[in-house]
Amino acid sequence: MTEKKKEKIDRRQFLGLAWLGSILALTGESLAALFKFIQPIIDGGFGGMVKAGTLEEFPPGSITLVQEGRFFISRLDDGSFIALWQRCTHLGCSVPFEEDEDQFHCPCHGSLFDKLGIVQGGPAPRPMDYFPVIIEAGEVFVNTEEAFERKAFDPSQTTHS
Ligand code: FES
Repeated sequence: MTEKKKEKIDRRQFLGLAWLGSILALTGESLAALFKFIQPIIDGGFGGMVKAGTLEEFPPGSITLVQEGRFFISRLDDGSFIALWQRCTHLGCSVPFEEDEDQFHCPCHGSLFDKLGIVQGGPAPRPMDYFPVIIEAGEVFVNTEEAFERKAFDPSQTTHS
């Protein structure tokens, strides 16, 4: 009788340990997934605040790809900045800037965008989305937490140095 009771307790202990192990494994997986989700924000990659560079790195009239943030810094001739998401507004392909054409040219279906991200041709239904630019102490930062859609260019989408 005592032996049987002891076995029952052992089984209960085993089930308890198995249950605890499952909970710990689930918690560990959840924490790993959460960390993976917030890591870009901690590291300053896409999905968080991205340091693009210093003001001097972006001469007026230039287009610069900031790979880790998946955006282009377009510095306009008046010295203001707009950060354009690299993603095509048609079906989401990455859009390169073609120096020889002086415009963005989507390789998938041929949408064209000017340096403000405004559609110049092709099937794209709206301008390239943009991210807010913040300039602090001579450094250019871009907040990639949220991309903003628009129907047209408006100077409020730019940031002055
Ligand atoms: S995804 Fe760019 S034109 Fe279709």
